[in-house]
Amino acid sequence: MVGLKIGLDIGSGAVTAAVEGNKGVVLSEPAVLALEAETGKILAAGEEACRMTGRCPDAIRLTRPLLGSGIAELQATQELLRIFLEKICKNKIFKPTVAATMPAGITNLEKRNLLGCVLRAGAGRAVLIEEPLAAALGIGVMTDKPYGTMIVNVGAGTTGVAVITMGSVAVAKTVPVGGNLMDEQIKHYLKVNRGVSVGRLTSEELKKTLGGAKMRDEAIAAIARGKELSGGMPLYFEVTAQEVNFAIRDSVDAICRAVQSVLEVTPPELLRDIADDGIFLCGGLSDLYGLDDAISQATGIRVKIPGNVTGAAAIGCLRALTTENYLSQNGYPFVTLETLDI
Ligand SMILES: Nc1ncnc2c1ncn2[C@@H]1O[C@H](COP(=O)(O)OP(=O)(O)O)[C@@H](O)[C@H]1O
Ligand SMILES: [Mg+2]
Repeated sequence: MVGLKIGLDIGSGAVTAAVEGNKGVVLSEPAVLALEAETGKILAAGEEACRMTGRCPDAIRLTRPLLGSGIAELQATQELLRIFLEKICKNKIFKPTVAATMPAGITNLEKRNLLGCVLRAGAGRAVLIEEPLAAALGIGVMTDKPYGTMIVNVGAGTTGVAVITMGSVAVAKTVPVGGNLMDEQIKHYLKVNRGVSVGRLTSEELKKTLGGAKMRDEAIAAIARGKELSGGMPLYFEVTAQEVNFAIRDSVDAICRAVQSVLEVTPPELLRDIADDGIFLCGGLSDLYGLDDAISQATGIRVKIPGNVTGAAAIGCLRALTTENYLSQNGYPFVTLETLDI
């Protein structure tokens, strides 16, 4: 008898899991932990902790341990993953085998730390796969043939760009730009230009409903709730799409530049394949209005958004686990707690 096989996308904003034998994604929760400030005791995790954003007293500290570049808070990451793995495995006796995502291009030390988190969180065996490669496996565009495919994964904390050929990553780059930075930029814009302070959840909502990498045909606006900076009273105010687009413009440019910089160092034959097939855009932020067109304009290459932009990496990890010999043939070894420390 063996444990469950789990594909785990450890995203910077959310953790998503797919399990063998189940269709699609079985868990998708924000990577947020609520801790008692004084003792560090865990009070809530995931969705429940996320609802406290901007609403909790000083006695509670919210942490998003995965949002920075690299994992800053190893202990919190481990605890978060433990809670999610327990939710998935319920009371299964055997420890699960986990294939988890890592940002493309992290150092060996960062890999070890991440593996340590996954194993100490309860995995019996674990293997890490670059997030864009996992996404490619999940959307089914990757082959083991010598043919280039470009995946751009735009998430909350990072954007990962990778060129994949023969089942593994040829060129890759991860930049610390994503939806979260845009949320911060919207907050900052409203503070400086409108004299209003808004919460994280509000700025994220504005990004989703109004924001775009280009202007829509029709002018749209929304009523948001915030707090006057002078006086501190609550107020309703109107925000236009134009303002939001202006606020996030630098992030859109940075994403386009990251894609361009990877294309620049991509060998010519692979580049030709990418130009023929187009660039695949996935991750939650690929739903940002016009981001595909902006990347397409910056590179001169078509951009396609496959279905299931957020579940693809978890499903891809599971596919890597369940496809015989895939991991061993492509140089992705399993690690256990015993082998991690040697
Ligand atoms: N419709 C949407 N429009 C714009 N951004 C979106 C939309 N839906 C989700 N997002 C953003 O996508 C990001 C999360 O993407 P995801 O791929 O889940 O991140 P990660 O893998 O880093 O956890 C968040 O910043 C979220 O606000
Ligand atoms: Mg992701």
